[in-house]
Amino acid sequence: MIRFPFNFLWGAATSAYQVEGGNTHADWWHWEKISGKERSGAACRHYEMYEKDFDLAQKLHHNAHRLSIEWSRIEPEEGKFSHKELKHYIDVILALRKRHIEPVVTLHHFTNPVWFSKSGGWVRRRSVTRFLRYCDYVTRSLAPYVRYWITINEPTIYISHAYIFGVWPPQSQSYLKATMVTENLASAHVNAYHLIHKIYKRLYLPAPSVSISQNVMAFVPCTKNLKNRVTAYLRHRLYNLGFLDRIMRHKIIPRKTMDFIGINYYSRQVVELKKFRVGNLAMDVCDNKHHRCEKNSLGWDIYPQGLYDVFVGLKKYKLPIMITENGICTDDDDLRWKYIYTHLKHIYRAMKEGVHVVGYLYWSLLDNFEWDKGFGPRFGLIGVNYKTHKRTVRRSARKFSKVCETGILKK
Ligand code: BGC
Repeated sequence: MIRFPFNFLWGAATSAYQVEGGNTHADWWHWEKISGKERSGAACRHYEMYEKDFDLAQKLHHNAHRLSIEWSRIEPEEGKFSHKELKHYIDVILALRKRHIEPVVTLHHFTNPVWFSKSGGWVRRRSVTRFLRYCDYVTRSLAPYVRYWITINEPTIYISHAYIFGVWPPQSQSYLKATMVTENLASAHVNAYHLIHKIYKRLYLPAPSVSISQNVMAFVPCTKNLKNRVTAYLRHRLYNLGFLDRIMRHKIIPRKTMDFIGINYYSRQVVELKKFRVGNLAMDVCDNKHHRCEKNSLGWDIYPQGLYDVFVGLKKYKLPIMITENGICTDDDDLRWKYIYTHLKHIYRAMKEGVHVVGYLYWSLLDNFEWDKGFGPRFGLIGVNYKTHKRTVRRSARKFSKVCETGILKK
C-alpha cells in the first residue's frame, strides 16, 4: 500500500479556451476560421456549466483544480477591461472554494487577445508590459481567493508550435522570432512573479506560490551508444530545463523567481541521432518499432518511469514540485486508470527518494478541445457528449477518486 501525505493536492486541470466555448476575442478563434481545423465553438459549455462540473469534481473527492483565465475575455480591446468577465472568474473561483477545492490559476494558456496578436504578439518587447497590465488587473481582485498561480503554461510548447514548427497561430517558422518570444515570455514570468508577490504584500495577504507549468519529456536513448546518450542528455537540458534555467538566472531581477515547479508530463521520446547536424540533434527519433510500449490515441508512448527520471533531474532546483498536468487521451478507460496508477507509483517512488511533490492534477477533468487536433482525443475523467453536453463520469475517475479521498494507492 502506498500512502501519500495527508495535505497532498488531488484533482484535475482544464484551460479556459479548451472547455468554456465562445471565446470569440481570442486569436485562436480567428485562426480556426482560416486554418480549416475543427472549430472550438461551444466546446464543453463549461462557461455556463462550471457549477455542475465542480459538483462532479467534489463528488470525486478532488481537493484542488487547475483552471485558466482567458485574457481575451478580460481585455477584449487593448486597455479596456471587462468587469463582467472578471466577476465571472471570481464566481468560478468562489464556486471552487465553496466546495473546498483549492484553485490553481493559470494566467496564460496558449491563447491571446486578437488585438495583442495583431500588433505583433509575443515577438514585441511591449508584450511584457501588456501582459503585466492584465496580470495586475486580475491579481488585485483574485488575490484574496487564490494561493497558487501559474503565470504561463508550457512556454516551450507554445514557442515551438507557434514560432518554430508553425502549426499553431501565428504559424511562424523563424528561429529569430522564437528567440525573441522566449526572452519575452521569460521576462513576462519573472516580472509577473514579482508583481503578484507585491500585490499580496500590499493587501496584507500571506505570500502566494507562483510558478510556470513546464512541459517535460523523458528522452530515452535508442541504444546505449555515446552519440544517442549525449543527444538525449542535451535534449533534456534544452527542452526540459532550458526555460527553467533561464528564469532562475534571469539577469534583470536576480532574486527568487519561482516558489514551486509546475510540471506537465505525458510521454517519452526515443532518441536516435542519424546525422551530426543541428536539426538532427534537436529532432531525430528512432522510427524502428523495437521499443514496444502502449500508446495513447494520438500515438504518444506511455512511459511512466520517465516521470521519475525527470524528477531526479529537477532535484537541483530545491523547490517543491506540483504535477499540473499528467494524462492520457484514449477510448480505453481501463488504460486510463492504468496510466494514472503507474504514474502515481513512480511519483511516489521519487518522493521516497527525497523529491518534494505537493500535488497531482490529472489532465483533464473533462474531455475537451485538443487544439489543432479538435475534439477527437478524449482526455477526460469525465466524458462529454458534444451534442447534448451531457457529462458521464468514467470508471477511471471513480478509481482515482478513491485515491483522492484516502491518499492511498493500493498495490
Ligand atoms: C497542454 C494542454 C493540452 C495537453 C494535451 C498540454 O500540452 O497544456 O492544453 O490539452 O497538453 O495535449
